[in-house]
Amino acid sequence: QLVLDTLDKLGTIHDTRTLVLPGHSDPAASHDSQIIILGALNSLASREMITYTTQETISHVLTPEGAHIALQGSHEARVWAALPAKGETKPLTPKQLEERVGSETAKIGQGRAFKNKWIAKEGDGLVKAVPSIQDTTQLEMREVDSTGTLKTGEKALAELRKRKLIVQRKGQWFTVKKGPTFSTSIAKPETDLTIDMLATGSWKTSTYKKYNFEAEGLPTNGGAFHPLLKVREEIRNIFLEMGFAEMPTSAYVESGFWCFDALFVPQQHPAREVQDTFYLSDPATSLPPPAEYYERVSRVHEHGGYGSTGYRAPWSDAESRKLLLRTHTTASSASMLWKLAARCRGEGADTSADARAAHPGSVPDGAQDDGFRPAKLFSIDRVFRNETMDATHLAEFHQVEGVVADRNLTLADLIGFMRVFFKKMGIENLRFKPAYNPYTEPSLEIFAFHPQLRKWVEVGNSGMFRPEMLEPMGFPKDVHVHGWGISLERPTMIRYGINNIRTLVGHKVSLEGVEKSPAVRF
Ligand code: PHE
Repeated sequence: QLVLDTLDKLGTIHDTRTLVLPGHSDPAASHDSQIIILGALNSLASREMITYTTQETISHVLTPEGAHIALQGSHEARVWAALPAKGETKPLTPKQLEERVGSETAKIGQGRAFKNKWIAKEGDGLVKAVPSIQDTTQLEMREVDSTGTLKTGEKALAELRKRKLIVQRKGQWFTVKKGPTFSTSIAKPETDLTIDMLATGSWKTSTYKKYNFEAEGLPTNGGAFHPLLKVREEIRNIFLEMGFAEMPTSAYVESGFWCFDALFVPQQHPAREVQDTFYLSDPATSLPPPAEYYERVSRVHEHGGYGSTGYRAPWSDAESRKLLLRTHTTASSASMLWKLAARCRGEGADTSADARAAHPGSVPDGAQDDGFRPAKLFSIDRVFRNETMDATHLAEFHQVEGVVADRNLTLADLIGFMRVFFKKMGIENLRFKPAYNPYTEPSLEIFAFHPQLRKWVEVGNSGMFRPEMLEPMGFPKDVHVHGWGISLERPTMIRYGINNIRTLVGHKVSLEGVEKSPAVRF
């Protein structure tokens, strides 16, 4: 306000050191005052109310010793003041003087006082030589303190610098002129243009805050991978280094046909009931599955075939066509296997010598090329189950799944394979327990010894896919497929020491925890 009022009166402020700040009696010559003024100038300049130019100066400030002299007087003056006048009382001995004014002042002050002829010797003692003195050093200190310089000029300043009573300091002062939006009152500038301002036309008269293109802005947080993604990446790397290819698994919505029927899961199986599976209401039914294959699948369910008696229960098209959220990624594996078998069904199979040479060993020596090529496939993606949620169960989670198709694979291949796979995950102690899956025979549950819990925990489920599943797809009889599935959440929780799945997934997840969670190495 002082700057604006002065500009209003004078038109220009040539030297801001002439301003008298509110609450002060002297002009604002000091360094500190100019700093305060600079703050005001910047704020007014950003509103374009003023413009200013900066002038550099060299000024002087007091050292701690200089400040002491400004307050208490110079050493020589203090020595003079402590001494008696000539003939008044007994002269002071140097020792007595030291006791009065301190040894430093006594030492430095005596020399100068003698030089100034302020004091004289009398016998062994010291007395005043003049009735009054003028303490120039103190006056100079006071002048430098308030003006930053001395009227007497550079020679005197140099002398004080040598005595280490003052030091030079770079200073600034400013010349100020009116800016384009000059006014004597500071209106709060607008920071945004609003619809209201456009409608009323007030935008024309408003003042605006200038953009500060130099501002650094708020620091932004980088993205962070969720622990599940980190573990997924590690498991994916294990699959890739073992020569597996990743299956496309973007279809969360599948039909009953691919999720269950193709896998030889009976249509009356409890897993297919609404208590276990989420069904879609809109759309509720899928497009028709591939006709020929559908025909073979429904036949093996209802009447058997391929050496099987089937389930001998009535087949329902409606059950097969129901749309649902896939309950396992084996739905994707089934459709990938069906595609893999296309070559064996004679659909677009390249049985040339070149094609065989690209997959050495895929056709037994001396045998006719039936189009089959071995495959190792994996997926890591989301599945959905109508579960009651608790500390270890969610209605959606992730499955890690591997499928290997080759001629004459055995259960020993599956077990051997899993030992290698789990070893790469850091799990060496495995046990296998006979289990049941509608689509595998034999089936094995995989248990690992948990070193912290000191007990065997189930880590996965596996098996050899049934002929009732593989043969309707068109695979030759000697092609065997084994597969296994594990959850992604369980190894993640073990790795990160998480007990409650709800701190891993959902609204209770701590973002800070996600940001700070370290990378996993198996
Ligand atoms: N689909 C099985 C599950 O959800 C896992 C599995 C995959 C089992 C492949 C055997 C073969 O638990």
